[in-house]
Amino acid sequence: MESGHISVMMNEVLELFGQFNGEPQTLLDGTFGRGGHCTTLLQKYPSLKAIGVDRDEAALEFANTHYGDLLNSGRLTMFQGSYRAFAQQLNPEQKFDFIFLDLGVSSPQLDDESRGFSFYGEGPLDMRMGKKQITTAADVINTWPEEQLIEIFKNFGDIHSPFRVVRAIVHDRKEKLYTTTQQLAGLIERVESWKKKGFHPATQYFMALRLVVNTELEDLQESLPVFIEALNPNGILLVLTFHSLEDRITKNIFKDNLDVGQRMNKKVIIPTDAEIEKNSRSRSAKLRGFLKTPAPLHRRDKYRSESHS
Ligand SMILES: C[S@@+](CC[C@H](N)C(=O)[O-])C[C@H]1O[C@@H](n2cnc3c(N)ncnc32)[C@H](O)[C@@H]1O
Repeated sequence: MESGHISVMMNEVLELFGQFNGEPQTLLDGTFGRGGHCTTLLQKYPSLKAIGVDRDEAALEFANTHYGDLLNSGRLTMFQGSYRAFAQQLNPEQKFDFIFLDLGVSSPQLDDESRGFSFYGEGPLDMRMGKKQITTAADVINTWPEEQLIEIFKNFGDIHSPFRVVRAIVHDRKEKLYTTTQQLAGLIERVESWKKKGFHPATQYFMALRLVVNTELEDLQESLPVFIEALNPNGILLVLTFHSLEDRITKNIFKDNLDVGQRMNKKVIIPTDAEIEKNSRSRSAKLRGFLKTPAPLHRRDKYRSESHS
């Protein structure tokens, strides 16, 4: 099926989930997108039922149009909203064998100029993943104080010296508010004297704005401990990140929870050269897995398993 999105590190994701001991029954996919990973897992495991979460209304429309059979049979249920909102309303009894996060934006979101994620096309300076969210990228650029803009570009965009760009934004917005992606990209090109070749200087600025508009790091930081808690014994949580700060948060939270499970890979898993060649958007991907500890054996079960060994 043509979905406009190539699922990243599919083989590696299947390999890690494949280490599950038994027949998995429940999957929570917190970043459903076009459902590539989720539906591949549903196909592989006939016993599996999934909840697909996405902030983007377009992801739910896509599921309605393309996965009617799965929705009608009850094997797939969709939830519109952030996975953090989903985590907050989770009933403590609700547990999962598989939990999966594939962070960031999908290719259809990036490629749709009207969403404002890309500096290549002309679109509103929006960048909200879901229409119900209030703050847009234009709100951040037009209203946030100079020091705060410097801080987000340094911390989230990893831009060593964003001062001249931010000064120019703060100066220009007094005369005319920023409303389009090209207005902002054009300013960055001018200030950074870009020669129209090589790495576009707006890349990191746009990345930082997207992370802030969608509270992506906060969502991850708050939800991962809840998701670890929501794993069944032997359950597996996989997180696919595209930003060094997301990877650091994941690594640290996995480390902080070693009393209830173990890291499946101590060294982060990255895509093969062949995958990067086929899909350049996979180049910054990093995959980590967490395996929840098996349920403690009851004394009688323990006795039985020892006497049979
Ligand atoms: C990289 S795509 C997922 C692609 C999917 N795994 C596939 O194979 O089709 C990420 C998706 O997660 C959604 N998303 C990102 N952050 C989210 C969050 N905090 N809560 C809910 N959805 C989120 C985006 O809207 C996007 O559709």
